[in-house]
Amino acid sequence: MIKVAICGALGRMGMTIGKLVNEAPDLELVGGIDIRSGSFYDVPVVTSSEIDSFLESVKPDVLIDFTIATAAVENIKAAARHGTALVVGTTGFSPEQRTEIETVINGTVPAVISSNYSVGVNIFWRLVREAAKQLGDYDIEVIEAHHHFKKDAPSGTAKTILNIIEEEIGEREKLYGREGMIGERGNEIGVHVIRGGDIVGDHSVLFAANNETIELSHRAYDRAVFAHGVIRAVRWIAGKETGIHSMDEVLGL
Ligand SMILES: NC(=O)c1ccc[n+]([C@@H]2O[C@H](COP(=O)([O-])OP(=O)(O)OC[C@H]3O[C@@H](n4cnc5c(N)ncnc54)[C@H](O)[C@@H]3O)[C@@H](O)[C@H]2O)c1
Repeated sequence: MIKVAICGALGRMGMTIGKLVNEAPDLELVGGIDIRSGSFYDVPVVTSSEIDSFLESVKPDVLIDFTIATAAVENIKAAARHGTALVVGTTGFSPEQRTEIETVINGTVPAVISSNYSVGVNIFWRLVREAAKQLGDYDIEVIEAHHHFKKDAPSGTAKTILNIIEEEIGEREKLYGREGMIGERGNEIGVHVIRGGDIVGDHSVLFAANNETIELSHRAYDRAVFAHGVIRAVRWIAGKETGIHSMDEVLGL
């Protein structure tokens, strides 16, 4: 049995992942951590100030984190102190926070970090890479939409899309929305963020040239698609070597 604990247990993703962990015959849900205590799926949820004593006494094999960036940095440090493997889905890290996380994890614990655990999005990223490779001279626009509670923008998935495109075509100016007398389009990548309702997560990349456009898009209809990928990462990461691993490795892509 793989013992699993979840940071952000009482959040949208924490609850969705907790349900799948609880139902999996080879996984044992041993508890949760959130800013308030309580319980979920018949196991205790402790407050984040108790994370060290929780990890010390319960000794999970894998700690999952779906919180907010500032909290995730602290939770990752706690997991490293206790030698607990990590699966991190939190997005919105600043470049400094990302560097801090890498320093903490390298040489101490194995971790999977991904801005999107959906299998479909990981395939979608590959298609975006292939398109960018061939269509670097087209105008490129990235559009994402999420529910009205989402705190960071653009989404981690959209940032990964931008990284992939720039790995293929080189760094470009990013233009976040347009307004007013902006003049002719330049060589930028336009980035557009929509927030509303209960949209789980939509991402599109538009490649436009004279007389044709190509649009690649992915739409998540249920958070379960992320949670299923998280479960695959949990099973995969247990016992792996220290350092940060990708969903590509988990999925064998
Ligand atoms: N990688 C992916 O596939 C993926 C998919 C969906 C969401 N996300 C990301 O996951 C994160 C959470 O998303 P959500 O929709 O579940 O948000 P949410 O707001 O519903 O849940 C976050 C939870 O974290 C808790 N929390 C805050 N500070 C904490 C701390 N110090 N310790 C423990 N818990 C703490 C909150 O109380 C809340 O219950 C976001 O960054 C989101 O962008 C990633």
